[in-house]
Amino acid sequence: MDPQNRTPLQKVIPKIIWFVRLEAQHMREFFFRRRLRSYKKWWNHLAKQDAMSEILTGASQEDEFDRSGKVDAAWLLETIGRDKVVLDVGCGIGRIEKYLAQDCRELHAVDISSVMLSKAYERLPFRNVSLKLGNGRDLGMYPDAKFDAVFSLLMLQHLEKEDTFLYLLEIHRVLKEAGTFVVQFPNFQSDKHFDSFLMYVFVPKNQRPAARVRGYSRDEIQFILSKIGFRLNELRESGADWILVAQKTVEKKAKKGTGESDESWFER
Ligand SMILES: C[S@@+](CC[C@H](N)C(=O)[O-])C[C@H]1O[C@@H](n2cnc3c(N)ncnc32)[C@H](O)[C@@H]1O
Repeated sequence: MDPQNRTPLQKVIPKIIWFVRLEAQHMREFFFRRRLRSYKKWWNHLAKQDAMSEILTGASQEDEFDRSGKVDAAWLLETIGRDKVVLDVGCGIGRIEKYLAQDCRELHAVDISSVMLSKAYERLPFRNVSLKLGNGRDLGMYPDAKFDAVFSLLMLQHLEKEDTFLYLLEIHRVLKEAGTFVVQFPNFQSDKHFDSFLMYVFVPKNQRPAARVRGYSRDEIQFILSKIGFRLNELRESGADWILVAQKTVEKKAKKGTGESDESWFER
C-alpha cells in the first residue's frame, strides 16, 4: 500500500508495535539483570535450562554426569569414612549424594535453588538423605556440632568472598570437634581461572553475574581457613582447582570486623 494512503490508525499501529517490543526488551533486560544480581534467581534460572551442564560445564549427558558423581563420591568416602553424619553445602541435583548416600549414616544436603532441589529429590530415592532449601548465607537450620563431616564442591567458588567467609564460619559451627571439612576452590593462578576472571574485567559492573567464579591463591585459602579455626591436613591440586581437607579445631582466631552488623557469628 502506498504510505500516503494509510489511515491514521494504520500509521500509528507500527509505532505501537515498535514501542511494545522495545518495552518488552527492557523488561527482559531488567529481569535478567535481577537474576544476575541474585544467587538464588541465577541458579534457579540455570537449573531450569540444563542443570547438568550448568553444574559440570559441558556434561549434559547423564552418564558423564553420573560418572563424575561416582568418582567424587569414592574419594570423598575415603577421606570422610563410612557411617558418618555428613552435610553437603550447595548440593545441586545430588550428583554426589546419589553415590555417597549408601555409605553414610545420614546425608544432609542444602542448596539455595528450589529448582535444583526438586531435581535432586527425583534423583535420590534414599531414606537417609535429607534435602533442605537454604537462605544462601548460613546453615541456621542445623544445630552446633551436628556433623562428623562437611563437604562443599563447586559452590563456594561462586560466592563473593565475604559470603564464602560466612559459610566457612557456619561450617565450622555445625561440625563436631575434630570433624572433617573437604572443600574445593579454584586456583586463581591457573590459566583456566585467570581466563574466567578476565572474561568479566571489561563487563559493566551491573552486568556481572553475582555467581561468577572467584579464584583463590594457595596462601589466601590456607590463611582464611586457619583464621576460622581449621587445621589443614591436606592441600592438593586437582586440575585448575585446590582440594583441601581440614579439621575443626575449637579455637577460633578471627575477630568480628568493625562493619555495622548486628549478627554475632562467633557467639551463636
Ligand atoms: C556448580 S553447582 C555444584 C553442585 C554440586 N556441589 C556438585 O558438585 O554437583 C553449584 C550449586 O551451588 C548452589 N548454590 C549457589 N549459591 C549458593 C548459596 N549461596 N548457598 C547454597 N547453595 C548455593 C547452586 O544452586 C548450585 O546447585
